Amino acid sequence: MSDPILEVQGLKKYFRTSAGALHAVDDVSFSIGRGQTMGVVGESGCGKSTLGRTILQLHEPSGGKIFFSGREVTGMSRRAFREVRPKMQMIFQDPYSSLNGRMTVSQLIAEPLIVNKVCRSRTEIDERVEEMMDTVGLAKRLALSYPHELDGGRRQRIGIARALILKPEFVVCDEPVSALDVSIQAQILNLLMDLQDRMGLTYLFITHDLSVVKHISDEIMVMYLGKCVEKAPAGEIFRNPLHPYTKALLAAIPIPDISSKHKHRDLLQGEVASPVNPKPGCRFAARCPMASERCRSGEIPLTEQAPGHFTACLKASLS
Ligand SMILES: Nc1ncnc2c1ncn2[C@@H]1O[C@H](COP(=O)(O)OP(=O)(O)OP(=O)(O)O)[C@@H](O)[C@H]1O
Ligand SMILES: [Mg+2]
Repeated sequence: MSDPILEVQGLKKYFRTSAGALHAVDDVSFSIGRGQTMGVVGESGCGKSTLGRTILQLHEPSGGKIFFSGREVTGMSRRAFREVRPKMQMIFQDPYSSLNGRMTVSQLIAEPLIVNKVCRSRTEIDERVEEMMDTVGLAKRLALSYPHELDGGRRQRIGIARALILKPEFVVCDEPVSALDVSIQAQILNLLMDLQDRMGLTYLFITHDLSVVKHISDEIMVMYLGKCVEKAPAGEIFRNPLHPYTKALLAAIPIPDISSKHKHRDLLQGEVASPVNPKPGCRFAARCPMASERCRSGEIPLTEQAPGHFTACLKASLS
């Protein structure tokens, strides 16, 4: 991969709970090339948002290192990080709850410029806001509207504008279309892809829905209980899934054609184990139809099965 903008090495985020250490992100490593998209998929609670938030230093990592544009940001002084932070932004799932309902569209989009003191005059702020509204497809006449007067798609466009107004290089998109009607999802996904091309953005694109990341991702990482269980170029994940969990996720995607040969779908059985003080071995073993004693006895390393295609499964490496 040429010129990775983000490198994550052995990242861990454990939360202290009354029951013990909750391993939300547990030894995750990957890198993303400039202008590329890494899709992150997995069920609710597998640590996707924690991964994104820890990369942006909204959580202090429990271990591991993060490099952005070749500079280590973990352990960086607050002052040094303040320079880097505007280059890394986040788009949230539910723009409504992340937007102050008493601010107008133009005030909401101007806020990051004002907080970060990047403009010299009110005129400059107004110009940048107007330009950004146009970029994300918000009509000028909406400048004085309030979020509750708008539909979900337009509210998400405000969230995108707020994330992009500081001209970031890297954006964590945390389920940016999951709260939207299906008809609007495609519009927002297309907008995000278009903006990526125009602004040279790099995305970490988080979703529980594999079908959403299929077209937007260059690579896909599948997470299960804090661990990366499979990582590969997007097409390869869909053509040749190796981990039983990835296979189950793919099988759960609704198939429009009833005559499809994949009609008999093996959906996931059993419960997700607890992320608190997890047992050694593969965390998917309790639900895996192929699991043996060896799978439960020790760490399962992520190994390269084909060029760029990594999986943490003993059975996959035997086949
Ligand atoms: N601030 C916190 N304190 C304690 N535990 C937390 C905290 N944030 C997240 N967790 C726990 O960490 C685990 C991972 O949560 P996270 O929100 O990252 O999952 P997710 O994959 O984003 O799920 P979802 O698809 O529901 O958004 C969960 O078990 C969650 O309960
Ligand atoms: Mg989440």
